[in-house]
Amino acid sequence: MTDETNLIAWSLEEVAERHGDPTQAVYDRLFAKSPEMAELFIGDKTGAARGEMLAVVFRTLLDFSSEGAFGANMVRAEIINHEGIGVPPKVFTTFFATVMETMRDLLGEDWTPPVAAAWDELLVGLDAAIHRETAA
Ligand code: HEM
Repeated sequence: MTDETNLIAWSLEEVAERHGDPTQAVYDRLFAKSPEMAELFIGDKTGAARGEMLAVVFRTLLDFSSEGAFGANMVRAEIINHEGIGVPPKVFTTFFATVMETMRDLLGEDWTPPVAAAWDELLVGLDAAIHRETAA
């Protein structure tokens, strides 16, 4: 690993390589923590929307962590889109934290201090983007 390595990208790739698709693990964790969230996904019988959404969330996190404009715009757009389906902005913080916690569990001993720090920095940045949007 070099200083140039994007540790967020590394975490997502490593988890996929070792454990396959983490969709189930992320949503199981989310619904255990916030059972009321499960009701929002009641129409998603096959889980296709959950899978597609997480794929877009990963793309958003990757872009955000490399300081691209797409990530911040995506968060902004999805906060507005999701308000229409009853998802309040503050839940975005819960969701991103759930993704981080799932990665932490799945990486086990490879959740090293630099990896943890990269995720901390990402979550702080995302929170700022969420607050900017809701304060606007
Ligand atoms: C940046 C963050 C997010 C992104 C990029 C995102 C993206 C998406 C996308 C692309 C879809 C459409 C999926 C499809 O129908 O194929 C979707 C649907 C949905 N999202 Fe999100 N989402 C985000 C955050 C959240 C959060 C925090 C929640 C709350 C738990 C949430 C709840 C939902 C629900 C309930 C649906 C509809 C599922 C259905 O069709 O039944 N999303 N999201």
